Amino acid sequence: MLGNDKFKRYTVTAALPYTNGPVHIGHLAGVYIPADIYVRFLRSTGKDVIFVCGSDEHGVPITLKARKEGVDPQQVVDKYHKIIGDSFRDFGVSFNIYHRTSSPTHHETASGFFRTLYDKGVFDEEETEQYYDEKAGQFLADRYIVGTCPKCGNEEAYGDQCEKCGTSLSPTELINPHSTLSGAQPILKKTRNWFLPLDKMQPQIEAYIDSHKEWKPNVYGQCKSWLSGGLNPRAMTRDLDWGVKVPVEGADGKVLYVWFDAPIGYISGTKDLCNQQLGAEKKSEYYLNEELRPTESWEKYWYDKETKLVHFIGKDNIVFHCIIFPAMLMAHGQFTLADNVPANEFLNLEGDKISTSRNWAVWLHEYLHEFPGKQDVLRYVLTSTAPETKDNDFTWRDFQARNNNELVAIFGNFVNRVLVLSHKYFGGKVMMGSPFTETDQKVMEEMKLYPAKIAASIEQYRFREALSEFMNLARLGNKYLADEEPWKLIKTDEDRVKTVLNVGLQIAANLAVLAGPFLPFSAKKLADMLNMGTQTWDKAGSTDILSAGHQLNEAALLFEKIEDSLIEEQIKKLTDSKAANAQAAIKPEDAKPNVNFDQFASMDIRVGTILEAEKVAKTKKLLKLKIDTGLDQRTIVSGIAEYFEPEQIIGKQVSVLINLEPREIKGILSQGMILMAENSDGNLSFVAPPAAINNGSVIR
Ligand code: 2FM
Ligand code: ZN
Repeated sequence: MLGNDKFKRYTVTAALPYTNGPVHIGHLAGVYIPADIYVRFLRSTGKDVIFVCGSDEHGVPITLKARKEGVDPQQVVDKYHKIIGDSFRDFGVSFNIYHRTSSPTHHETASGFFRTLYDKGVFDEEETEQYYDEKAGQFLADRYIVGTCPKCGNEEAYGDQCEKCGTSLSPTELINPHSTLSGAQPILKKTRNWFLPLDKMQPQIEAYIDSHKEWKPNVYGQCKSWLSGGLNPRAMTRDLDWGVKVPVEGADGKVLYVWFDAPIGYISGTKDLCNQQLGAEKKSEYYLNEELRPTESWEKYWYDKETKLVHFIGKDNIVFHCIIFPAMLMAHGQFTLADNVPANEFLNLEGDKISTSRNWAVWLHEYLHEFPGKQDVLRYVLTSTAPETKDNDFTWRDFQARNNNELVAIFGNFVNRVLVLSHKYFGGKVMMGSPFTETDQKVMEEMKLYPAKIAASIEQYRFREALSEFMNLARLGNKYLADEEPWKLIKTDEDRVKTVLNVGLQIAANLAVLAGPFLPFSAKKLADMLNMGTQTWDKAGSTDILSAGHQLNEAALLFEKIEDSLIEEQIKKLTDSKAANAQAAIKPEDAKPNVNFDQFASMDIRVGTILEAEKVAKTKKLLKLKIDTGLDQRTIVSGIAEYFEPEQIIGKQVSVLINLEPREIKGILSQGMILMAENSDGNLSFVAPPAAINNGSVIR
């Protein structure tokens, strides 16, 4: 609990997204929205907190993307760093800094960290056999190699991890490994690397995990299962050229393992944040929140035992944040370890796994463009359906329903009624009339309980529960107004109406404070309408945030209904993308062996016209065609009856192979063959000249 929290300050991190694509709703629901709620709540309670994130710009996903696009990795990361950074800022994710791992500070920090461990003799230096792609001339680390997962049989497991069962792997554990660069079967080749001896460190790590039985069951459980399997030494260097150079002699052509350097990104981001080393030139590379200045040196946020370190991540990152990074920090010796790692499960989209490569996603930058001003709607929906304990599903219909039936009909409606009535009856002034009734007292007593309830849920990383309590307060306000009916009372008892609206306005003011962590844009809008400024969390629960005589500002709608057409457009966008993918997924047949020119020239292919067509009796597939080949009229039996009605093809021009050996089919002599193209969906079409041409014209 915060009340008796032993911590003086908070360092909150959110997983550094890979800069090989934009951010989607799965990332938001799993990591960034919960982290932002937590941080905004802490700030509102007056805590000293820094919120650090940045782009994860190394690692194989980036180089693979660069290769695919035929550009440099730096171009890829520059492009996505901007898209991601802009969209986080516009979505209101309140990082103190959004940093990047290609920055000089990061390279120095990660390199220095490695060197410290190296100098302390932490690493096992070993020559081992690693997979090597002879065609591509490179070692195959991590995602450069795929194969079958030895644990779950997933045929698409990567060299460092199986995304299906979460197991962390090394390439040599894969069954049937092959290179993602060339598809080739790799060979084994000797190379020197530096290993973190997790096996020797197991007792320390185990003690650390055991001291955190309060972690979410999915996180604690995954850690325990890792430990029970026995930890293995893990290479912290790679034979690659994109990344932080290994700072020791004899390590040319090697970089730090991306999972060694990425979490150090939290530290380097904090350094740049606190040192304010952001000269004009560098500044444009980072997203720095100028209004949120840290109060202490970067070391305090990382070394001090009174700093609470919390990592927000997705479930595929658990092992790296709960075992490997803590092991690195332990080995270093100066750092404090994470107090909690509230990892979420995955969010699906319309019943299907979100996939960047299949474009099955709702992209944040597109959402911001297509739903301007509606950041809070997405924040609300993704918090209400957050995959906190199990995978969950996002659907556009649910998005619409939650907006229309909850945000508009409950929260928005309550606030609007109380403000509009205050303007209508009392010129927008807060009034106080007859003394509070028992009902008023009860409602206000109930209201006082909400800040503590919501805070307790947030402190336990139960953001769905916290948000649903928040909405219960809006419901309480709505019910109070509906029961008291000030719009009727005004005719008989104006004094009572003053008091009812006073109670209603105090609830609205409480909602403005409590909405801050969840719905920051609406909280601000509401606070502006109530003309109450920004209030801290300790104000919530009071029944006199707005004193009698206080002037309110104009009322405006907090939320608007979302129409069917907007939702249908989004659904269509997804269906179109699915169709395009299905199309692209169908691979053309393999190429046939070469023929020489004479072999090709020996085939006599002519343009002809179908004169007659009829089904061949007792068959499903065959049509008997009479063709004018320009040289003669001849009969050809063709297996196209399932695709064309005879009467529809009469008069069509086609390509005919006329010197194919005649043969008898179902008692009919077939003299040639019609050329057909088979579409990827299995449908057939004629290979025909685009415009009419003389029968008998040669196709060559
Ligand atoms: O899974 C990912 O997207 C990683 N880029 C997360 C890195 S988190 C941290 F360690 F930097
Ligand atoms: Zn697996």
